[in-house]
Amino acid sequence: MEKRIYSLPTREEKFDLLQKKNDEAALGGGEKRIEAQHSKGKLTARERVELLMDEGSFEEIGKFVMHRCKDFGLDKQHYLGDGVVTGYGTVNGRLVYVFSQDFTVFGGSLSETHAEKIVKIMDLAMKNGAPVIGLNDSGGARIQEGVVSLGGYADIFYRNTRASGVIPQISAIMGPCAGGAVYSPAITDFIFMVENSSYMFVTGPNVVKTVTQENVTAEELGGASTHSTKSGVTHFSCKNEVDCIQSIKRLLSFIPQNCEEDAPVSEYDEKDEAREALDSIIPDNPNQPYDMREVIDSLVDDGSFFEVHKNFAENIVVGFAFIGGRSVGIIGNQPASLAGVLDIHASTKGARFVRFCDCFNIPLLVLEDVPGFLPGTDQEWNGIITNGAKLLYAFSEATVPRVTVITRKAYGGAYDVMNSKHIGADMNYAWPMAEIAVMGAKGAAEIIFKREIAESENPEEKLQEKVDEYTNKFANPYRAAHRGYIDEVILPRDTRKKLIRAFKMLENKADSLPRKKHGNIPL
Ligand code: HXC
Repeated sequence: MEKRIYSLPTREEKFDLLQKKNDEAALGGGEKRIEAQHSKGKLTARERVELLMDEGSFEEIGKFVMHRCKDFGLDKQHYLGDGVVTGYGTVNGRLVYVFSQDFTVFGGSLSETHAEKIVKIMDLAMKNGAPVIGLNDSGGARIQEGVVSLGGYADIFYRNTRASGVIPQISAIMGPCAGGAVYSPAITDFIFMVENSSYMFVTGPNVVKTVTQENVTAEELGGASTHSTKSGVTHFSCKNEVDCIQSIKRLLSFIPQNCEEDAPVSEYDEKDEAREALDSIIPDNPNQPYDMREVIDSLVDDGSFFEVHKNFAENIVVGFAFIGGRSVGIIGNQPASLAGVLDIHASTKGARFVRFCDCFNIPLLVLEDVPGFLPGTDQEWNGIITNGAKLLYAFSEATVPRVTVITRKAYGGAYDVMNSKHIGADMNYAWPMAEIAVMGAKGAAEIIFKREIAESENPEEKLQEKVDEYTNKFANPYRAAHRGYIDEVILPRDTRKKLIRAFKMLENKADSLPRKKHGNIPL
């Protein structure tokens, strides 16, 4: 035992005090509230961090931070850490920063100090070039703190925006996320939601009822299913929290630490890359659908396709995969849904994904089978022009390696938009069944041979004759190949080999945009 000097605490007592504080902080809002959290089928903030990080790698920052509010009795309620666990650690050996809101402390609500803790790790992440992962479970602004809390949110939004395109930012919604709290996740690159235990909305069901007289549950208004199918706000809808955290880890495996790094690539020796199954996926009848995911699965390294926005705008498929050990972003039209047509949602979904990949040096592969843009008043009145332009703009400004394979249709403006040579694609392939033309043969024949058909003794027969003539002339890849718009017409079975070689050939691609402050993408 150390000798006590006057009434000062001994070293052991000081060590004990630290232990006591650590134990207290570990309990967050206390055992009862932890039990309540568990009884809802939810993990605590710390349990989530443990699940996410490599074992023993997490280093906490700001464990003893306390709020400074003296109003509404808060001067008598203090919890070490103030409702958010923050720090850094590794995920599969790579550095990440994390904040995890603790619902057991004032419902995870965001106070001035809670915000300062998040800001601190965001600043560290920016200086050190590593992803930030936010695990959100919060009742929003700490009501007792008023504008100070709003200021805290704005400090975070500002940093989210500054960090956009510099470091990857990932948000998981694992409980309520209401009011302004939704805007930080919305600025980040990817949102994950947990089914039946998380929701996001600007105003909750009660306000909705008051303002619009609509009766709606929290789940209907802003649950994972709503946001993964209707609004597209969330990119991933996860069965439970464990699934959510595993999915975040999987996503990280495809992306670099920051915008200065290359996308992940591992050593790969070319082996037998022929994929005969690809030869028979496209039906002989050009109007018959097929699933583009089958094409993707045959092209990528075994089982590596990780789909993003799976249940939203299903007429376009986007996601990450490895091809020959190289991380690649894939954008494919989906003939199995709305014939793969481009509409407003498909365009914005595709554009956002292309821009993410371009920010973080992830090469792009486009698999094209698109009959055109979706016609109609609904699309026109809701801005298919502006929204379709987003996809066109996103591809046109992308400087990463870009490869296109036209598997079947490439009609009209959609031919231009879907990573054509003309807007900067590096390698453009087509399969022998590709149809590259201004429009489908019937529509084209009806317009350009209108008079001839009308004056014919048998208009129907004449129309068919002209349709056949147009089809034979244009419904193939050779006109485009003669011009060099297509670099090579290839057999489906050879596509994987071609892609592995093309992406390797392009790995040192250096391209840049003209000097500018920033572009003005049509929003
Ligand atoms: C302070 C809060 C809080 C908040 C919850 N709590 N939200 N404390 N500020 N915003 C506290 C509760 O008092 C309670 O404390 C504990 O957290 C758990 O809350 P419960 O209501 O018991 O839990 P539950 O029934 O699960 O409901 C969760 C909830 C509800 C749906 C989130 O608490 C709720 O509606 N909270 C308010 C949401 C809201 O309107 N936030 C402001 C949004 S506006 P005890 O001590 O009992 O455990 C906003 C503006 C930001 O965020 C703008 C930025 C631009």
